Amino acid sequence: MTIQVAVNGYGTIGKRVADAVTAQPDMALLGVAKTSPNHEAALAVENGYPLYAAVPERIELFEAAGIDLAGEVDELVAAADIVVDACPSGIGAENRSLYEAHDTPALYQGGEDADIVDVSFNARGNYAAATGADHVRVVSCNTTGLARLLAPLEEIYGVEKARVTLVRRGGDPAQSG
Ligand SMILES: NC(=O)c1ccc[n+]([C@@H]2O[C@H](COP(=O)([O-])OP(=O)(O)OC[C@H]3O[C@@H](n4cnc5c(N)ncnc54)[C@H](OP(=O)(O)O)[C@@H]3O)[C@@H](O)[C@H]2O)c1
Repeated sequence: MTIQVAVNGYGTIGKRVADAVTAQPDMALLGVAKTSPNHEAALAVENGYPLYAAVPERIELFEAAGIDLAGEVDELVAAADIVVDACPSGIGAENRSLYEAHDTPALYQGGEDADIVDVSFNARGNYAAATGADHVRVVSCNTTGLARLLAPLEEIYGVEKARVTLVRRGGDPAQSG
């Protein structure tokens, strides 16, 4: 069975999720959704990814920019087996009712609060805990790194406390500071 995946939010994370889904033999990318007809929207079309309008009132902006749409996000979510929400922090929580309305399971990002989902997930830390859950949050990049490091240490030695210094980039390419 091929899992039909929708990606809502085609930015730093969404672009990579869409490419990763496309590379999987057992998944198909149904489409991606955005609010603005900017360069990322053009990139989605260039990559052959069906592009959906996240906000119906903005459809004419895409038309004016000459960027072809495949439809509205509502149709994308309805047709999908699962939606990966890669919208900015807090928007995922707002989108939850859309996914529930179509009974489409959803995967949110670490920018969302833990209490909007059934389980917060890291493959190395708690893979089995997410089995069967309809609303799952991938923990943040920082927590993902820590979980990969600390889970095996916890399993072998036990961890009482971790004092951690994170060394990471200052921002994503589109951010100025
Ligand atoms: N970047 C990282 O390294 C990183 C790491 C771990 C977790 N995260 C988390 O991942 C999530 C996404 O972060 P990001 O860095 O990918 O953000 P981003 O680069 O700003 O991308 C978000 C995308 O969502 C679109 N969008 C905004 N409102 C939308 C809506 N209502 N419906 C559909 N699309 C919408 C934006 O484009 P339009 O406004 O044009 O629609 C944009 O393309 C956040 O929760 C963040 O905390 C990010």
